[in-house]
Amino acid sequence: MQTQLLINGEWRDGAHGQRISVLDPSTGEEIASVAAGTPADATAAVDAATAAQKLWAKVAPRERSEILRACWKTLLDHAGELTELITMEHGKPLADARGEVTYAAEFFRWNAEEAVRIHGSIGLAPSGNNNIIVRHPPVGVVVIVTPWNFPAAMITRKLAPALAAGNAVVIKPPKETPLTALRIGELLEEAGVPPGVVNIVPTLSSGSWFDAAVDHPATRMVSFTGSTEVGRILLRRCSDRVLKVCMELGGNAPFIVFDDADIDAAVEGAMTAKMRHSAETCTAANRFFVEEGVADEFTKKLSAAIGAVKCGPGSEDGVTCGPMINAKAIEDMDGLVKSAIAAGATATIGGAPGDRAGFFYQPTVLDNVAPDSPITTQEIFGPIAPVIRFSDTDTMIEQANNTEMGLMAYVFTKDIGKGMAVSERLEAGMVGLNRGSVSDPAAPFGGMKQSGLGREGASEGIYEFCETQYIAAQW
Ligand code: SIN
Repeated sequence: MQTQLLINGEWRDGAHGQRISVLDPSTGEEIASVAAGTPADATAAVDAATAAQKLWAKVAPRERSEILRACWKTLLDHAGELTELITMEHGKPLADARGEVTYAAEFFRWNAEEAVRIHGSIGLAPSGNNNIIVRHPPVGVVVIVTPWNFPAAMITRKLAPALAAGNAVVIKPPKETPLTALRIGELLEEAGVPPGVVNIVPTLSSGSWFDAAVDHPATRMVSFTGSTEVGRILLRRCSDRVLKVCMELGGNAPFIVFDDADIDAAVEGAMTAKMRHSAETCTAANRFFVEEGVADEFTKKLSAAIGAVKCGPGSEDGVTCGPMINAKAIEDMDGLVKSAIAAGATATIGGAPGDRAGFFYQPTVLDNVAPDSPITTQEIFGPIAPVIRFSDTDTMIEQANNTEMGLMAYVFTKDIGKGMAVSERLEAGMVGLNRGSVSDPAAPFGGMKQSGLGREGASEGIYEFCETQYIAAQW
């Protein structure tokens, strides 16, 4: 498979000939290396995208749609290989990696269907003097920056709508998981995406790479998924050129269990919301608010379920939680757990780093966590479930909303009226009501507050990659 940069349909080395070492996070050992792009390579990629976009935008929507559908089919035809690649460089269990490939491919199928439905409007101006025509041309060249937690799906969630709308892109995949990105690039070429429309440039110098891409006069938009901390820096940089942005940033999801919930269903939902993809998702349940009447039962059952999780390399049989991405992640989690315990919480299961080589943390449940403990104010990004007991719904909702994040929330109750009322009061872009997972290419993914700007997926997702042009027309 290709391990070079993809620029203008050609595979080439970076301008300085450097390589990025890709590690297996379950051993910390190198498994491959890929070419490292420089700022000059980022500039060359935007040049290529600029020329290719002019032609791609002229391709009929039906034809673009059919190419996107071919991309969907090609990714699924290579699902086995992509699954193994994701597990190899990210470490997540094979079942999660396979689910990710289906999810990633589905963005192409969904956007193939949307490509022929980018509608504008026409209406008579109130004065009756002219018509108001609104159309949605593509933005132009889009720079896509993605994280390592979903090596395939976080790329396709941006790439598919960008292409459907007639844009060309330059992708900076994460240095931790560039192999999946490059293989996707190869497969898209095979599916008929023209040279230069998709350019992929991994790098070791993110800051100067991004500066070069943003400063290129042809760049019109940046679409980023990652932490709020990095999102703020990129937003500042994009403001220099007043670029259009779409930002999917951090989360701090409350998972609320009321006394009247089906507790077994809530535990099952909690396991999905907390543990899917090795607990490294920005939608992960970060704070479990459990009503006093069911707190003992829920915590006991959750601890049993978390205690049954098998940690290990994602490729090993029966493993349901892979390694974390690096040593720093383990250090950060351990610091949060220690401070919660020092403030009065108890670990009912786990509570320490894993006792095997690689970057592992024991799946952990912390009971009686203080609502203001540092573990409740930060995105954990690992297999730790802090339980906060509550007795007053209004106070609990205030605490659940007491965060600068607003990506995701979960509510479990059999009383759907109450569930809807509580969902409406939560400051979150997405709510799982009696569900531990909400991700769906047909639904608008995104956050309120500092969790982001814009939405991905659904019909909203494609318009993020379009301009709005109004023509006042008289005839
Ligand atoms: C994320 O964690 O960034 C995405 C999660 C998802 O799409 O399910």
